[in-house]
Amino acid sequence: MRLIANIADWFDRRVQLGGPIRETLEHPVPRQAASWFYVFGSAALTVFVLQIVTGILLATVYVPAAGQAWDSLQVLNREVTLGWFIRALHGWGSNFMVAIVFIHMVQVFLFGAFKFPRELTWLAGVFLLLMTLGMAFSGQVLRFDQDAYWGLGIGAAVSSRIPLVGPWLVSSLLGGPIIAGATLSRFFALHVFVIPGILIAIVGLHVLLVLKLGINEWPRPGRPVSRETYLREYRELTRKEGEPFVPDAVWKDVVFSGFILLSIAACALYFGPIGPGGQPNPTIIQTVPRPDFFFLWLYAVLSLLPSSLETPAMLIGPAIAVLVLLALPFVSGEGEKSWRRRPMAVLIVMLAVVAFGTLTDVARDAPWSPVMDAWSGEPIPAKYLTKRTALERQGALVFQAKQCHNCHALDGKGGQRGPALDAVAVRLTHDQLIRQVIQGGGNMPAYGKNLSPAETNALVGFLETLHPAGQAAAQDASRRHTHETNAAPSSSPPR
Ligand code: HEC
Repeated sequence: MRLIANIADWFDRRVQLGGPIRETLEHPVPRQAASWFYVFGSAALTVFVLQIVTGILLATVYVPAAGQAWDSLQVLNREVTLGWFIRALHGWGSNFMVAIVFIHMVQVFLFGAFKFPRELTWLAGVFLLLMTLGMAFSGQVLRFDQDAYWGLGIGAAVSSRIPLVGPWLVSSLLGGPIIAGATLSRFFALHVFVIPGILIAIVGLHVLLVLKLGINEWPRPGRPVSRETYLREYRELTRKEGEPFVPDAVWKDVVFSGFILLSIAACALYFGPIGPGGQPNPTIIQTVPRPDFFFLWLYAVLSLLPSSLETPAMLIGPAIAVLVLLALPFVSGEGEKSWRRRPMAVLIVMLAVVAFGTLTDVARDAPWSPVMDAWSGEPIPAKYLTKRTALERQGALVFQAKQCHNCHALDGKGGQRGPALDAVAVRLTHDQLIRQVIQGGGNMPAYGKNLSPAETNALVGFLETLHPAGQAAAQDASRRHTHETNAAPSSSPPR
């Protein structure tokens, strides 16, 4: 015991933090503020620590490579001892964290805790909310399953609509024109280094401000905040009826944080790890991608709006929401704190809860599906459609509908993962085209189960028209004599 005390003393003489720490722990807080309403901030911090610990554990096994990410999650789920449990804790921790941060924000809003002198604390909080959502989204991408693939598709579709910088933003998010290995590396860097770094810095600032300015006193009606007198009144209040944070006030935080940790563990045990769902597969375009629950309302909004309003809703709505949140403490930095004297505030919260609740409920069967035109919405060039038979044009439709454009360019527009197909008929014969489409191969998914024979026939009919005017389509030499009579230079008839 003596030895430990001596060591502690040695350090304290050099670092000189013992005094400030003790002061911080024992600083008086307004007695009524030590209430069950004030536990959400510390609970969010606790869950954040849980996320860091479980995240580091997961990173020891996870492989951030497009081909292996999904498999490494299967290994975690099935082979690593308790790997499934760590994944489940991390996944449910993330859901809890988003929910708690939201509740914390609503509570702070209703209790007027954003008013003078705590404006900066509120601003830091708004950024923490955005970063938390960023973590949730980038984390979902790391699962690299079917949902992640389409979640990304939606994210890219939204980003691509931003004027001027849209295309640049998409290609820097995805690391290229399509979702591939580079995309995963970028989101891994975001999820593991960039956003957590920013989060830790802002959390530090946020907590420091809370300690420096003291916990918001219990709002009493008829006691408006004024910049001239508030600090004096607060000091008076904590001197008269304050109690030390440790141990008198902190136990509620500890109990609630413990309760939250237990709830996360219970969800993890009962529901198990989240995903990974099916392997990402660009050929499945009939899937109905559903975002995580806290983005569901947005999804419903998009499905209910006429499509002409989608872009404004995606871009302007969120921007306005963030601006309103940021402006709040400046617009109403003084005045009444109690919700009993702020009917507008109560009304806004009630409206928001009802709106979010209803929209989330609607989203369970809302039909919106994103327009995946971030990089593949280019129409088939008109010159490839003129003077074509009905079947060949049908094939062009299949080409468009099955998103071949995602990976293949025509006339310089479209994805880059596969070769441009402008002159594909010169390289491949009818049979080779069929084989390529049905069996895929060399990094192209097999479309066999995804195309009916009629669709395949039309598609290949269209592909066979893709050759420069002066160059004939490739022919199967062993069958040449059967075609001599009917092989037209610009298009081959359906067989
Ligand atoms: C996920 C990306 C991807 C999608 C989607 C895709 N392809 Fe491909 N495709 C490729 C890649 C990569 C290759 C090159 C394969 C190789 O190197 O053997 C390729 C090759 C081809 C070829 C052979 C080209 C040549 O010059 O050898 C044809 C024809 C083709 N694709 C047609 C299609 C059609 C039709 C569709 C839609 C039904 C489609 N592809 C969808 C990635 C894709």
